[in-house]
Amino acid sequence: MAASTSEPRFNQRHLLDMSSLDAEEITTILDLADRFFEISERPIKKVPTLRGQTVVNLFMEPSTRTRISFEVAEKRLSADTINFSASTSSTKKGETLLDTVKNLEAMSPQILVMRHSEPGAAHFVAKRVNAAVVNAGDGAHAHPTQALLDCATIRKVKGKIKGLEIAIVGDIDHSRVARSDIIALRKLGANVRVAGPKTMIPPGLAELTGATVCHKLGEAVEGADVVMMLRIQAERQGGACLFPSTREYSRTFGLDSDVLSMSKDDAIVMHPGPMNRGVEITPEVADGPRSVILYQVTYGVAVRMAVLYLLAGKPPVE
Ligand code: CP
Repeated sequence: MAASTSEPRFNQRHLLDMSSLDAEEITTILDLADRFFEISERPIKKVPTLRGQTVVNLFMEPSTRTRISFEVAEKRLSADTINFSASTSSTKKGETLLDTVKNLEAMSPQILVMRHSEPGAAHFVAKRVNAAVVNAGDGAHAHPTQALLDCATIRKVKGKIKGLEIAIVGDIDHSRVARSDIIALRKLGANVRVAGPKTMIPPGLAELTGATVCHKLGEAVEGADVVMMLRIQAERQGGACLFPSTREYSRTFGLDSDVLSMSKDDAIVMHPGPMNRGVEITPEVADGPRSVILYQVTYGVAVRMAVLYLLAGKPPVE
């Protein structure tokens, strides 16, 4: 991959949420991700771009896709990757988050990728360390690299984002993915419709984001270009009962082939994962020809390579 002749615009020291980025910066990341995607298709998927740089992956909440995807991205960029496991760390002996990151910083990493259950945790750390911080998910607040990989996938498959009708369905209120996706997609000119039980739609969402709130699944899916399904985020609901039963939820807000047939003929189906098959999506749809769910995961590596590259200060790409 040849180095770009024009300097892309990206004025961020950290990647904490999608509100901090403008449309041009988002496009810079997506363009770069397309170039890194090419590297991921080579027989040898490794470039020396981040050689000598250390990245710590500080995951204090469970993750499969994001954690592994960051590690793959770091290794493909030749960074030294350190994985922090909360369950075997001194946080189990009562060490605070701040003491933990201050001790990690004493070992001079250039980038800290962090996931935490508390909204604002990445912002809190970013104000207190010299390393660049990437938010890999903080409670129900933000998951910017998921939004970026969702945008990259949509742009690649549909050829554009502006003007598309995008339905996001499920537990919007507790979903950091929904929050980050709505902000990113609106900035890039998509029309976003959300649907879910009233108890899972945050008040004021339409006024705050410009998304259209639908109370029936069919209203959101009808004529959509993209249908994105979300998991019920039980771990953030504090034990509250927000719908009568899983069976009722699935019947009212689950995506099956009949509901999907209301969307455009070339509509795609997305899901950030992990999926609860048979609850928000049938296996037939999840594994069907419209599904780009695993393609999202593939693009995630390229998007994270792009983010790491930009935060590391745009070293030369070879
Ligand atoms: N989409 C996503 O964040 O998945 P993980 O929780 O497995 O990282």
